Amino acid sequence: MMVCRSKAKALIAFFAATTLFTSVATASEPARHDSSEKNIRERADALIAQMTPDEKAAQLTQFFYLQPVPAANKAALDALGSTGVGSLLFVTDPVEVNRLQHMAVEKSRLHIPVLFGFDVIHGLHTIFPVPIGLAASWDPKLVEQSQAVAARETRAVGVQWTFAPNLDIGRDPRWGRIVETAGEDPYLVSAMGRAQVLGFQGNYLGQPGRIMAGPKHFAGYGASLGGRDWDEVQLSDSDLWNVHFPPFKAAIDAGAGAIMAAYMHLNGVPAAANRWLLTDVLRKSLGFEGLVGSDSGSVNKLVVQNLAADKKEAVVRALVAGLDMEMVDPGQAPSMAQLPGALASGDIPPDRVDEAVRHVLEAKIRLGLFENPYIDEKAVGRVFADPQHRAAARLAAERSAVLLKNEGNLLPLDPHRIRSLAVIGPFADSVRDTLGPWVFDQNKPEAVTLFAGLKAALGPKVALRYSEGVRMPKRLFPSPSATADKMPDRQPLDEDQEIKRAVELAHQSDAAVLVLGEATNMISEGGSRSSFDLPGRQQELLDAVVGTGKPVIIVLYSARPIDLKGTRAAAILDMWYPGTEGGTAGANLLLGNAVPGGKLPFSWIRSPAHAPNYYGQLISHKPQPVQGRYWNESSAPNYPFGFGLSYTDFGYSNLRLDRASMAVGERIGVSVDVTNKGRVAGDEVVQLYIHQRHGTSARPVRELKGFQRITLGAGKTRTVNFSLGPDELRYWSDATKGWVQDETGFDLFVGGSSAADLKASFEVARQ
Ligand code: NOJ
Repeated sequence: MMVCRSKAKALIAFFAATTLFTSVATASEPARHDSSEKNIRERADALIAQMTPDEKAAQLTQFFYLQPVPAANKAALDALGSTGVGSLLFVTDPVEVNRLQHMAVEKSRLHIPVLFGFDVIHGLHTIFPVPIGLAASWDPKLVEQSQAVAARETRAVGVQWTFAPNLDIGRDPRWGRIVETAGEDPYLVSAMGRAQVLGFQGNYLGQPGRIMAGPKHFAGYGASLGGRDWDEVQLSDSDLWNVHFPPFKAAIDAGAGAIMAAYMHLNGVPAAANRWLLTDVLRKSLGFEGLVGSDSGSVNKLVVQNLAADKKEAVVRALVAGLDMEMVDPGQAPSMAQLPGALASGDIPPDRVDEAVRHVLEAKIRLGLFENPYIDEKAVGRVFADPQHRAAARLAAERSAVLLKNEGNLLPLDPHRIRSLAVIGPFADSVRDTLGPWVFDQNKPEAVTLFAGLKAALGPKVALRYSEGVRMPKRLFPSPSATADKMPDRQPLDEDQEIKRAVELAHQSDAAVLVLGEATNMISEGGSRSSFDLPGRQQELLDAVVGTGKPVIIVLYSARPIDLKGTRAAAILDMWYPGTEGGTAGANLLLGNAVPGGKLPFSWIRSPAHAPNYYGQLISHKPQPVQGRYWNESSAPNYPFGFGLSYTDFGYSNLRLDRASMAVGERIGVSVDVTNKGRVAGDEVVQLYIHQRHGTSARPVRELKGFQRITLGAGKTRTVNFSLGPDELRYWSDATKGWVQDETGFDLFVGGSSAADLKASFEVARQ
């Protein structure tokens, strides 16, 4: 029936797309610095020498500037014309940015420009797939290019600092902010973190058209108890060093200019005032030299969190711990206002204050704000309209999609054989949910819905029939987050009638595409959830449409595992929240003009009761059966970490090592032949996992230590090479409280998911 197997066209389109986006420079270009380190420091120190305590406090303060909420912005406006302000966040209107910058530069005593910050998580105007989707591409170069586009648009409106990437480890999908992460694995999150920093910043902080990256939330926020957002975190040193810190190390090594401290308690001490975390680990061990900002309100919250007795103590403890800048909740008075008093009473070392101010000023100098504080407002429209941005967004959406099921090769559909298609579901024509969370109307984002994308791709000859099907239920508790996405109020829908209509449309059509999942306001900050069921009556809608016997394709908009109750739908394509070009990309994938090749960045567990259940666990003293941990159902995930199908099959053979043993500190080469066994071109993510047999500490059953996404023509074979050395084989041991590389045996596994079974072994031994 509608199965298209000649995919030369898809391959050509793919190659055209991958080479399209060449005008955004990537970080392989040589680094270029305009100012020497010494010069930057001297400039900062010269300013600090002239500053009053009030002016120093002002530089350490970051106010929300929300439009239009004039009352809440009063403190920021007052400061701009007198002491100046360190940073403003959330203003992205270029005219307003210039106006505020003029106030700072012309009216404040020392003429210090403002650093503007914003949450540019997956695009500003042109929206890319959410970060968990970008991670699912397993394509760091693509991710770098995506964030380079985001940087260009952001810099154009006058913002120079993004609070991204989110490098929290997403091991508990109940936690809503998993959508902003790169998933459960420290190696993958590190690769994505590095790529995002390079994309935002380019080769050096201050590169034209780029912005400062602010990796967050340092550290451990993803491990909140029960996956409940904002709850405390208890993590062992081993967890922190082996799992939660490595992505930040990768981001720092890539040159990240700022870091955001988390706001929850880490082992009883809120991260914003955790000296071990912010000074011993971040500065001394990880070597970070940039600006450490707080999360929203988290200095004031040190009082709420039972750490500090009052705001003065809060600011003293945060600064002494190593924090530089306070992000103040909208409309709140900053704790930083207590700084002059704390300096006068000798409660805080003046050198620490000056160091914090220096970090702020150095960022401003590096970003070129003193030389070029203003932007060309007229250029913004041209930058937003650059067709390359949309092309990049489409490519990212295509490459992030994960094909979970494709029974009977239902996909791709053959556009020449389809006469009619039913497109059903609450997200099928929803711009808001195509864009996903952390997308703000003020930046005029646009999106092609899947319905619109299919319509454009199929043309007038194919009867396309749309039904919303059902509505999303309201949240039981509205999100208390200041930045949570607000969903539009709409006319009520008679769901009984609409489900009947959807079934009728499916009956009349050759196939049905159902776009299901979780609404944008059900995920992200304040979006934790204790169920993985489809919200509302979506399951009923799905079952009813599947009951027609027509071929059914589910397209998921989600960022956590969704429990589809063993649906008989033949195909499932997870598109996350795919962004501006989501519908175009979706149509390309469904119709075979693009080939799915993404892989899951988390284990698709069966239900929230299984959380957390990531692949990289220690082997238990009762290892078998590994899936039999619960008596009532399998404890294995529905889909393992790293899993994803293509429109073809891949075979792995000839796994070989360039030596059988090596000494500590040496490297070993690993090669494998990958063959496209099918009749169409496709993508595979070749993954390498290791397992250390014994040593100073027990190590996980498997650990990802290498991956490469490749495109292979039908019948073609390629040799893929990896290399393992000290960086991959060492770990932090709780037995020695330090890094070790053991002399021991290793198994390694290579394949298309964390369940790969092609195996080889080697020894690290005294030579
Ligand atoms: C709170 C969030 O935790 C953080 O990630 C974000 O950057 C700030 N709000 C600012 O929006």
